[in-house]
Amino acid sequence: MSLRKFKHASTLFLMKSLAGLAGSPAYMAYTGSGSAAELCRHITRTGVRKLLLVTDKPLRDLGIVDQATAALADTGVELVIFDGVEPNPTYDQVAAGRKLMLEHGCEAVLAIGGGSSIDAAKIIAAAATSDEDPKNWVGFGKVKHEVPKLYAIPTTSGTGSEATMGAVISDSESREKGVISGASLLPAAVALDSDLMLGMPAPITAATGIDALTHAIEAYICVWDRGTRKEHAAMATRLIFQHLRDAVADGSNREARDAMALAAYYAGIAINQVNVGNVHAIAHQIGGKYGIPHGLANALVLPHVLEYCRVESGEALAELALLAGVGTAGETTDALAGKFIAAVVQLRADVGLPETSDKIRAEDYDYLAGLAFKECEGYPVPKLLERDAILAILRKITA
Ligand SMILES: [Fe+2]
Repeated sequence: MSLRKFKHASTLFLMKSLAGLAGSPAYMAYTGSGSAAELCRHITRTGVRKLLLVTDKPLRDLGIVDQATAALADTGVELVIFDGVEPNPTYDQVAAGRKLMLEHGCEAVLAIGGGSSIDAAKIIAAAATSDEDPKNWVGFGKVKHEVPKLYAIPTTSGTGSEATMGAVISDSESREKGVISGASLLPAAVALDSDLMLGMPAPITAATGIDALTHAIEAYICVWDRGTRKEHAAMATRLIFQHLRDAVADGSNREARDAMALAAYYAGIAINQVNVGNVHAIAHQIGGKYGIPHGLANALVLPHVLEYCRVESGEALAELALLAGVGTAGETTDALAGKFIAAVVQLRADVGLPETSDKIRAEDYDYLAGLAFKECEGYPVPKLLERDAILAILRKITA
């Protein structure tokens, strides 16, 4: 065993030991049309008097925020709105939200929006009950203090942040991204309400849907068999292959929207147990360097990473083929694995996402490969990424 593989095995051992000390998280979701109102009534019943609402300005201007919180009118719950979240939220935005929360004495936080708003809300809530600099919390499980109750109403179906205890945050100066996590950052309850997603544009539906698929696949093929990661990843995979095309083709298709919201949530539950893998290790770098949206970055990388670990993950990929409905049980493992990878490529094409990007520059390959090489060592991946393999993938996805 090489030194790198030995270190990876040690990291996995440590992760498993720490996870064994943690209790099982409690997930709670209201689902389907009208579920945002159900969540609002749930929040009212907890006795909260002042609620910080964390969202972004475009969503508020579209009327989505008013629509989502209509059931809070005349309940006596005062809403304090922070709509300063932008894509890739920063510590500055968190500080502004925290200030508003403390000024008004808000007792709980409700996030409405995509992953950026939910992630920002998590860190605002954590910062509201601590004097520590949130930058010190970057890493695994470093938020250990009590945090005000968090609720979330996702308006995209992809990041799964509504089902995880992690939050991605960017430093506005260095542009570096960090992940902050802690058991108390898992939302206490969420609403997966298709009413709020009907107007989501097709390219965003497609890219976020492939992000959810990537979560499901990375949790399914990982080497850490923890909790329900496989069951939730399986349910998510099946739903995405059945409904993503319809959600992209017709945004008003409520059945497809509901299915995708549930799929993203299930995939979020899966990665909340075992984290992501090699696809994210590369996608994070091209997202950070070039601003390529996260779902799109995953879509570029996903089939190549699956091909890279086709032998090591053969059994899992074969099972995924059956879940995706692209093979029959009598076929060989390798044939099914190949069919699943081909099905991922086909799905990506069918939802209108590209195979390459003209933003990626050859002169950055070494830098990007170095970061991805390091990042994958922290994930329970079936096969560590080698530098040559990362470089080959970068070449393939460059237009
Ligand atoms: Fe992701």
